[in-house]
Amino acid sequence: MVLALCAFGISVTAYSQERAAMQKVKAAPLKDVFGDKFYMGVAINRNQANGTDKKAQAILSSQFNSISPENDMKWEKIHPAKNTYDFKHADAYVDFGIKNKMFVIGHTLIWHSQTPDWVFEDSNGKPLSREALLTVMKDHITTVVTRYKGKISGWDVVNEAFNEDGTFRQSKWFTIIGEDFIEKAFEYAHAADPKAELYYNDYNVYKTAKRAGILKLVQKLKAANIAITAVGEQGHYNLSNPPVSEVESVITDFAALNIITNFTELDISVLPDKDANLTADVSTKETYNAKYNPYTKSLPDAVLKSLAKRYADLFKVFVKHSDTVSRITFWGLTDGDSWLNDFPMPGRTNYPLLYDRKYNEKTEVINFIKSTL
Ligand code: G3I
Repeated sequence: MVLALCAFGISVTAYSQERAAMQKVKAAPLKDVFGDKFYMGVAINRNQANGTDKKAQAILSSQFNSISPENDMKWEKIHPAKNTYDFKHADAYVDFGIKNKMFVIGHTLIWHSQTPDWVFEDSNGKPLSREALLTVMKDHITTVVTRYKGKISGWDVVNEAFNEDGTFRQSKWFTIIGEDFIEKAFEYAHAADPKAELYYNDYNVYKTAKRAGILKLVQKLKAANIAITAVGEQGHYNLSNPPVSEVESVITDFAALNIITNFTELDISVLPDKDANLTADVSTKETYNAKYNPYTKSLPDAVLKSLAKRYADLFKVFVKHSDTVSRITFWGLTDGDSWLNDFPMPGRTNYPLLYDRKYNEKTEVINFIKSTL
């Protein structure tokens, strides 16, 4: 090998130096390897935040420098009834991030899902007027953002407001307030913490028609001088879809508007899909069918290799555009934590993340990701 290298004019010293450098990169934590490119983030659950899951905490604090709350800051959790806020779990989440000097994300202020009915109704169960709903929205956003001012660095202000064809989702926010519910949400969040980064977050932004709607929204916000820092492409992908070229278009299209793209909920399902159309719409439900659950015991090596390659192909694009990509967040730490075990079909065994069910890193996947630098 060494002789062959010498024949090609590569000195033994240069070769050994390169090998040593590669070994060093492989040994370094993810957050350090990509430290000057983007934050390495991960969504965490309640047990991870409060320390019940100590094994997870050790990995989180050593490998990642940003966290998102998988569930505990959603409206139904934090503001379950009209005059009742419950910050216990959200506080534990934020404390964990601050203690570990992480870039802490708030997820999510305004969403059509996981928002209790009372939000949209008066005391007789009748729909609120536009003005009354705006008051509820303002109270919620102001209370939550103010509580974590200076601690939460970036907020998913509005989540999933568009349909796949780029039209507005007919959510209660949209039908009662009108399309400027998004502008209002951003204004209230900015007023509560002018220094926080503010994001619009959605899935399947790689789809041209959907992205066209979001690009129009961003242009509108910018024209009105409303602060928006980035668009989050959630990134719930599978082994073959979407093609990386379509992922790259997300980054370049928003960069043309001077907007950062973050990949905010990245995971890669390795299981066969019943429906070829990827979706992360939480209302999608399929009946269990063993045909779509082929790896109940373990992940075959060939599939692990495909997962490694797929992640590496995506990271090549993220690294190439790291001037306009500032965070990559995985939607969960271990395969056992992943929502994809139950979505869209409950009861499957999926392997979408960087750590297996025993908290072991998938070395092959992680090294492939690191090698994209
Ligand atoms: O905690 C309860 C548990 O006590 C109960 O026994 C069990 C029975 O169903 O439910 C548990 O709650 C579930 C919760 O996840 C925690 O596992 C809820 O039913 C379930 O609806 C909830 O799903 C979450 C989903 O959002 C809806 O909020 C997923 O964990 C979470 O990963 C997912 O995250 C969303 C993002 O916020 C937005 N983008 C899409 C993404 C994936 O759907």
